Amino acid sequence: MQKTEVLVIGSGLAGIIAALTAADKGAKVTIVTKTESIMSGSTPWAQGGIIYKGDNDSPEQLTSDILIAGDGASWEPAVHQLVELGPKLVKEILIDKYSVAFDYSNNNLDFTEEGAHSVRRIIHSKDQTGKAIHETIIPYLLNHPNISILTEHTVIDLLTLSHHSKNPQDIYIKPACFGAFILNNQTGKVFPIYANNTILATGGLGQIYINTTNPEESTGDGIALAYRAGARLMNLHYIQFHPTTIYSEHERFLVSESVRGEGAILINKFGHRFMENNPQKELAPRDVVARQIYEEMLNTNHPCVYLDVRHLDSKWIVERFPTINEHLLQLGIDMTKEPIPVVPAAHYSCGGVGVSLKGRTSLRRLYAVGEVSCTGVHGANRLASTSLLEALTWGWVAGNEVLQVDGDDNYFPEINEWQDGIDDIDNALIAQDWLTIKNTMWNYVGLIRTHQRLHRAHQTLRHLQNEIEDFYRKAKMSKDIIQLRNGVTTAYAVTNFAIEDRINRGSHFIKF
Ligand code: SIN
Repeated sequence: MQKTEVLVIGSGLAGIIAALTAADKGAKVTIVTKTESIMSGSTPWAQGGIIYKGDNDSPEQLTSDILIAGDGASWEPAVHQLVELGPKLVKEILIDKYSVAFDYSNNNLDFTEEGAHSVRRIIHSKDQTGKAIHETIIPYLLNHPNISILTEHTVIDLLTLSHHSKNPQDIYIKPACFGAFILNNQTGKVFPIYANNTILATGGLGQIYINTTNPEESTGDGIALAYRAGARLMNLHYIQFHPTTIYSEHERFLVSESVRGEGAILINKFGHRFMENNPQKELAPRDVVARQIYEEMLNTNHPCVYLDVRHLDSKWIVERFPTINEHLLQLGIDMTKEPIPVVPAAHYSCGGVGVSLKGRTSLRRLYAVGEVSCTGVHGANRLASTSLLEALTWGWVAGNEVLQVDGDDNYFPEINEWQDGIDDIDNALIAQDWLTIKNTMWNYVGLIRTHQRLHRAHQTLRHLQNEIEDFYRKAKMSKDIIQLRNGVTTAYAVTNFAIEDRINRGSHFIKF
């Protein structure tokens, strides 16, 4: 039997910090990721930066900014933990321990600004902060004697006492997770890994929408795994849409909010600056800006609006945002000379698997960190650049907490062997089912919802989920069928949360 003390599922910032924290203190850790590269998830895609502490800043001011953005739905103890611990960990772990190459000006850390922040307090590495952090830390992970890494391995389901134990008495004890069933993507072999403690760090769910800033692996896996295992989910309907992604035929590449933080303005096709009358102008909270863009597109009958930086110093803009500039040039757009066509896209799940201040879920021996979790920090709408900070903070906290193993955490019951299906996968079905999920979510459970749209989505997804479950049960296991099953489960769960909440708050907006 393959056994580890800590099983970490996912390799973004939250997962790798949890793994390193536990491994540094002597725990044997196994990291599993379904991707070919360990450098996956949304972390390397994070452009803007990470909150530190600005000049004339204070914990009270940061707390207030987070609570205002969260629109009354944040959990204050979690916000306090983030605000008190987060910047300390940025200093101790990212700056002092790993020497991440943040940008400096005049020997001081350079602060940028993003929407709804009252001061400049975000440190960054050009416009690829997440990549700089990830690339710096990954080598420590690869060389750590206590860490084993399995890439190209996809988790099928979490092992729980209530679902998998052969001992009928186990359903009477407090539900707990003791590892996972895992598919080797290359050999097709399925095997269990037993773990004293398991940490979900699977990232987001953006791929359930047709337009998203997320990488292709963000298929909502952790939400679906936790749901099937019986862990509590929270705030799933609070999906944050990023206001500005490049409007192009093939993709939605993020144009960081820090571009607006540095002075870019939003105009419609007639050149009218439509955020001008908002007190915070282009730096209003994301949900406000995204919905205004959506309205503007409808009112002008145009498929996008434009982000304009032509009034800023062109040499500086190119140096400050090299990745975005390069990407735009490849699409034939010179941002120093012409406005950038932009549209909103699904960006971040503010809800997720509910966790305590220590990262514990409602299921014993199961933790969740990073975007898959719901710590309560983000409430109904996340403040920009809090996600890397939350990943670092809860990754560190959970990495310490898993070391507190109690007697029951060593219980591993006998389980039934994995039974594989026999049917070959029909890729046409997979592709069409994904299109149904993505279009349904975008049109009916998107930026602007109505009861009619939500009920239509509910019916469509309920039916599709039944079909896919049937298809999954008969299929030879593959990453594609596992992701599809997770995607539809997560989409259906998001829709159910949206139907049940009749109060418009933050990113959840129902037009009556
Ligand atoms: C951005 O750079 O606009 C994204 C940063 C974030 O979502 O926090």
